[in-house]
Amino acid sequence: MEILGIDVGGTGIKGALVNIKTGKLTTEKHRIPTPIPATPEAISKTIKQLVNHFNWKGLVGCGFPTPLQHGKCLTGGNLHKDWKGTQVDQLFEATTGNNFSIVNDADAAGLAEINFGAGKDVKGTVIMITLGTGIGSGLFLDGKLVPNTEFGHVLYKNGEIFEKYASDSARKRDKLSRKEWGKRLRKYFKHINLLVSPDLIIVGGGASKKFDKIEAKLDLDVKIVPAQAENEAGIIGAAMAAKHNIK
Ligand code: BGC
Repeated sequence: MEILGIDVGGTGIKGALVNIKTGKLTTEKHRIPTPIPATPEAISKTIKQLVNHFNWKGLVGCGFPTPLQHGKCLTGGNLHKDWKGTQVDQLFEATTGNNFSIVNDADAAGLAEINFGAGKDVKGTVIMITLGTGIGSGLFLDGKLVPNTEFGHVLYKNGEIFEKYASDSARKRDKLSRKEWGKRLRKYFKHINLLVSPDLIIVGGGASKKFDKIEAKLDLDVKIVPAQAENEAGIIGAAMAAKHNIK
């Protein structure tokens, strides 16, 4: 069975058809830059372009980078303030005519890892942390997703959230070496470990590349591994979420 998986990101919106049994893409990926400003109207146009590119009439699973509950944006996150309160599945269904299932982007990445990657067959509590423009999280118990966690929003200090301190965009903004970034991530993962006591932490996004340089700085009492599906995880996981109708 194939589902069109779409990953809405801060810089690009990517899609491909996914065989949800094997977790493999059955077409080339197609990427369109995220429109600026990333308003609901502009993004739905891009989504329509993607659906048309694949000439797809079936179900679409879409990973979305904001806090969500049952497909509705709780805030505009790093996209645009106008998303707040938008029922994303209904908006995209109205624009394209396809059925949509919306899942948080980090939940989607985690679903790909749990089913086909670094979290495959891992029992107990697994947390996926994605380090990109923001920090996203996906929490799993015995392979089952507890949707819509927002562990990037854990407070760091002075009311500031960890996302602003330890994301990949914070690394770029503050021109950090991998070593320096690793020290910040150590503080973050130490705190996550205290809050969740996971059996495994899977790290996706910027830090999963050259992971060894960061890993040396982590030195924590919990197993931390880089994501395996990486660039494609968001697309694959979005399709998986649609199949299981996860919200
Ligand atoms: C959002 C999350 C999202 C993460 C990664 C954060 O700013 O609150 O929902 O998963 O960025 O895109």
